[in-house]
Amino acid sequence: MSRRILIAGNWKMNTRAASAAALAKCIVDAVGNSSSVEVALCPPAVYLHVVAEATAGTPVEVGAQNLYPSDDGAFTGELNAAMLTDVGCRFVILGHSERRQLMGETDADVSKKLHAALAGNLVPIVCVGETLDQREANETESVIETQVRGSLEGLDEVRAAGIVIAYEPVWAIGTGKTASKEQAEAVHAFIRELLSQMFSPSVAEQIRIQYGGSVKPNNAEELLAQPNIDGALVGGASLKVEDFAAIIAAGQ
Ligand code: G3H
Repeated sequence: MSRRILIAGNWKMNTRAASAAALAKCIVDAVGNSSSVEVALCPPAVYLHVVAEATAGTPVEVGAQNLYPSDDGAFTGELNAAMLTDVGCRFVILGHSERRQLMGETDADVSKKLHAALAGNLVPIVCVGETLDQREANETESVIETQVRGSLEGLDEVRAAGIVIAYEPVWAIGTGKTASKEQAEAVHAFIRELLSQMFSPSVAEQIRIQYGGSVKPNNAEELLAQPNIDGALVGGASLKVEDFAAIIAAGQ
């Protein structure tokens, strides 16, 4: 089955209101009125409304970088799924390795967030990936399996089909070292087989698996041409209009 390519820009903790609006408008212009590729921008939470306004009425969608898995209440500093949809989000990135490393997020945390996202009509982009030490110790598959099973704990087949997984080898994030197309495809194929066992072959065929980690204009085309790579979660290059537009074009 054919899965629509999803190119998402994770702006991480970058931009200000004016630059976020300008960047979003430039991406909107680059994408035009119709695109075979789905495009999403994930700015810092305080600029979600700015980006939602700049992309309103266009094919470019908006995503958040995190959520808190609870209804409204006494959770100082947090944002829930209802707030994110209220401000125009369709996607939410969950379990990014920076949050796993810096904020101590666990697979159990990601699973709670996943269920909150789905209950709030957000499409979760669930991030998994091994460190360099784990890869060198030949632990990549076991690490990925633990993360996928743990992060998707309690997910049923019907909802599973609509989620997105992002395979982001930690050693490739922001380092300029991209996984080769063969390395990336091997892990993506492993994840799809795992999803097939966890849910069903037909559900596994529907789940989009993005690659993330130093995706640039010069490597996007070969990565996106792999049979199990269904998009890219782009960090640094998503902050440069020409680079991000070229990555989108590579997926067309
Ligand atoms: O979420 C995006 C990834 O962390 C990749 O970041 O493209 O800067 O390596 P990068």
